Amino acid sequence: MLVSGSGSNLQALLDRRGTRYEVVLVLADRPGVLALDRAERAGVPTVVVPWAGDRTAFTSAVCDEVEKSSAAYVVLAGFMRILGPEAIRRFERRIVNVHPSLLPAFPGARAVAQALEAGVTETGVTVHFVDEQVDHGPIIAQVRVPVRDGDDEATLHARIQEQEHRIYPEVVAELGRSVSLEPAG
Ligand code: GRF
Repeated sequence: MLVSGSGSNLQALLDRRGTRYEVVLVLADRPGVLALDRAERAGVPTVVVPWAGDRTAFTSAVCDEVEKSSAAYVVLAGFMRILGPEAIRRFERRIVNVHPSLLPAFPGARAVAQALEAGVTETGVTVHFVDEQVDHGPIIAQVRVPVRDGDDEATLHARIQEQEHRIYPEVVAELGRSVSLEPAG
């Protein structure tokens, strides 16, 4: 799993791991984030690949770590870096992301604020395969979340995250159905 921040989605995935999928590595683009503490508490190996401003080199280093871990899927959960084309090539249809809107509406880092600014009556959560564009690629699952009178960014994001924490582990479990958890050989 690739993380940059608080890792509440990581926690939801950790809490449901076991029979249908395992979390084999948590990779962050910076040290000291809460997500790394969550992984360590859960006994999952962690690695930091620090972002140093060069997307090509960063992407290669991330891909190498993922490959070493033998992960079947690359699960992005609040990962704030955009991976370069090498990642899409090396893990084609094996990188998934969760985004707090009903894509294609409101891609980017301000999805919840933009939904409020646009005055929509509903927004939601999208889980999708990652392609070379930001917050774009084949959609796997979506859940609607109504916008309530008086919602601000924090209250709306909290209700969106409740849904993220419910559907992301479900989607990963479904993806895991095609992958054996037994060691090869
Ligand atoms: C989530 O809302 C996710 O949709 C977005 O970044 C946020 C990450 O939250 N891509 P967390 O780090 O999992 O708590």
